[in-house]
Amino acid sequence: MKILITGGAGFIGSNFVHHVLARHRDDEVLVLDALTYAGNLENLADVADDPRYRFVRGDIADRRLVDELMRDVAVVVNFAAESHVDRSIEDPAAFLHTNVDGALVLLDAARRAGVRCFLQVSTDEVYGSLGAEGHFTEASPLAPSSPYAASKAAADLLALSFWKTYGLPVVVSRCSNNFGPYQFPEKVIPLFITNALADQPLPLYGDGLNVRDWIYVDDHCAALDRIVRHGRAGEVYNVGAGNECTNRALTELILGELGRPLELIRYVTDRLGHDRRYALDASKLRRELQWEPAHRFEDALRQTVAWYRDTPSWWQRVKSGAYQTYYERMYGGRLQAAGERRGHA
Ligand code: NAD
Ligand code: DAU
Repeated sequence: MKILITGGAGFIGSNFVHHVLARHRDDEVLVLDALTYAGNLENLADVADDPRYRFVRGDIADRRLVDELMRDVAVVVNFAAESHVDRSIEDPAAFLHTNVDGALVLLDAARRAGVRCFLQVSTDEVYGSLGAEGHFTEASPLAPSSPYAASKAAADLLALSFWKTYGLPVVVSRCSNNFGPYQFPEKVIPLFITNALADQPLPLYGDGLNVRDWIYVDDHCAALDRIVRHGRAGEVYNVGAGNECTNRALTELILGELGRPLELIRYVTDRLGHDRRYALDASKLRRELQWEPAHRFEDALRQTVAWYRDTPSWWQRVKSGAYQTYYERMYGGRLQAAGERRGHA
């Protein structure tokens, strides 16, 4: 079958393209990606010559292009998004364009084309923040904190409305924090690994005790693959592997793996509206679709650290140019203030 994978040049999208082409001989993959700062064709270089793969550069909000590409498509998997919470705090508008308007254009075109399945790839951040106890289930109320999370919640609701109103077979997946190869080094794990490799400080927000529930990207891709083929239309599936970890403990694991000193940690001014804790109940996915994560957290983190250590050309290119301006804007003042505090201590 032909699968339209939007955002396929990004982190999870490119891992999913590899996953599908490696496991499903008869599938064709059409990638639509705008190649924003987060999109990178190097992530797809090793499938470029596969006759079952085609790449189109374009915006998911471009109605004419999307209508044209939707012909003969059986399944749409929508990864395309502005995905970084800190950037959404600085400039929410881009998030509405892609995450909401773009999703609507895709849904509309998919409805007209009569696709068999539309998978909206979403996030646990739509549920907001947890206290010390409990887990989010699919029935938890939506209470997004950041403009990013609010835009994803809007798209989830829009997608589900297309099932209720028009009968478009939509499924929504809500996954926890991913890590693995090809993740843009604005997200905490690749940022901290690559900073540590360069003996640069690691900017830990607030008290470092916020908790995230980590999943290796391959396990997420395997879950999405099952959802596309066996998920029930109109349903939401949480995707999580049950690996809760404070940011401080995570940072210590990364530094330990690289043999770098804890002194590289800098406690910097917290993110605005920073969600304290995420933890997902993924029992519906396990029960209905017989999915289980195949990777242990510590092993997958070790593999991921090794990938960045052994692939410096990838992240050194990504961290050059506009990235430097972003990094200085986001962290320059915070790191200076943290340094001054250390100086006074
Ligand atoms: P990413 O930022 O690495 O990749 C996003 C991709 O979308 C990029 O290739 C970018 O070029 C493309 N894109 C952006 N705007 C576009 C547009 N208007 N038209 C076409 N393409 C566009 O993101 P990611 O971390 O791989 O996340 C992928 C999806 O998974 C997102 O929808 C995100 O909300 C969701 N998600 C991510 C995580 C995570 O931990 N990273 C967890 C749960 C859900
Ligand atoms: O939960 C799923 C979400 O996970 C996805 O929907 C998002 O697309 C993805 O970006 C991710 O969001 P987070 O905000 O949780 O990820 P991030 O890597 O930005 O931050 C993880 C934690 O680390 C968070 O508590 C903030 C903290 N952090 C992050 C950065 C970038 C730091 O302490 N320092 C940093 O420099």
